[in-house]
Amino acid sequence: MQKKISPARRVRGFVRIPGDKSISHRYGMLASIAEGTTKIHNYSTGADCHSTLRCMSALGALVEELPQSEVHIHGQGLYGLKEPAEMLDAGNSGSTIRMLSGILAAQPFRCMIAGDESLSRRPMQRIMTPLAEMGVSIQARDGKYPPLEIHGGALKAIDYTLPVPSAQVKSCVLFAGLYADGVTTVRESIRTRDHSELALREFGADVRSVKGVISITGKPKLEGRELMVPGDLSSAAFFLVATLVVPQADLILQGVGLNPTRSYLLDFLISLGAKIKVPNIQDSGGELIGDLDAKGGGIAGGVIEKAQTAALIDEIPVLAVLGALSENGLTVRDAGELRIKETDRIAAIADNFARMGVSMEVTADGFHIPGRQKFRGALVDSFGDHRIAMACAVAALSADSEVTIENAEAASVSYPEFYDTLAEIVEA
Ligand code: S3P
Repeated sequence: MQKKISPARRVRGFVRIPGDKSISHRYGMLASIAEGTTKIHNYSTGADCHSTLRCMSALGALVEELPQSEVHIHGQGLYGLKEPAEMLDAGNSGSTIRMLSGILAAQPFRCMIAGDESLSRRPMQRIMTPLAEMGVSIQARDGKYPPLEIHGGALKAIDYTLPVPSAQVKSCVLFAGLYADGVTTVRESIRTRDHSELALREFGADVRSVKGVISITGKPKLEGRELMVPGDLSSAAFFLVATLVVPQADLILQGVGLNPTRSYLLDFLISLGAKIKVPNIQDSGGELIGDLDAKGGGIAGGVIEKAQTAALIDEIPVLAVLGALSENGLTVRDAGELRIKETDRIAAIADNFARMGVSMEVTADGFHIPGRQKFRGALVDSFGDHRIAMACAVAALSADSEVTIENAEAASVSYPEFYDTLAEIVEA
């Protein structure tokens, strides 16, 4: 599908941001291995989180999808999943394949899990190494890519130091740790999102987290719950940047997740000159939730590196747009992980920016974009990556003429309503 986006003079209005992708995956998986029914409100509308639901129902969980993003899951308990009749399909979702593998590793049956063409190119050794240490044999195509063939069984508790800052890998080991005797520990030197720790606690597991050392005690009783998924801050990021690249902007984003391991985005944007207020903060299942009241402002530019890069990893495509329009430009370092996301995001940004007349210097693990540039109307491509599609749409708002996005449907991986919502809040 092609999508044409025209330049905008103004953005304004209210947006209720759909449920967080990361949290929805975790609630969907843990509800399936809990006892009793879990009622999830505001489950992500994105295709990725529906891949998780399909996998869980193929494994025997009873999943009911109700109107208005409500999902009820009748869990089968830690030991109640069944051997699936067919290969599990994770679609485009790295979170599904990597986190679910931790649960599959403990099942007393063999199963296979695969994904689409993009997922089939993403590295899996990062989960295979700790799961092998726990005693599980996993086969992968060429030793590292999906499909994965997992022969589950008894697991040993391990003490594992993450070699890359990855919440997916941490979650995989913690989920496997649910089934090990004793205490499984994961150590991280750079803090990653802690939704799994919070969700595991909500379902009743004993999880401790002190200064980057996270421990889980095996064989807990997980119990079904009623949970509300906060709006996805990474989806809100596209609208926050829109308020900074369009001349007149005044936007309220409602019910957005403000987990401190994700909300560095707000500090960063405010440090660049964004005017963002955060009213109505509340707790929701251990997660923080609030509104974002954003107005335009001058944008200074800046540097993203080290722990900041890990904290902003999903937002970097849209922050690159901001960088090109800022006073001093944007430098991103330590972002090698961007090259192994749904597409090589560094290459995809550089390719699309060149088509829109914006220059940047690319390095092996980052880039520098000089400031005070202008986007030109052009034909760009999502390369099948949801965040690249939506970042191009935001760039188009500030362009001198219409931008056409090829493979624009990729946005539905995390945010199917994105273009309709954008159309509601922009004025040409
Ligand atoms: C996610 C973790 C991050 C992030 C991804 C979602 C999660 O990936 O980029 O979109 O839900 O745990 P990594 O674990 O590969 O850093």
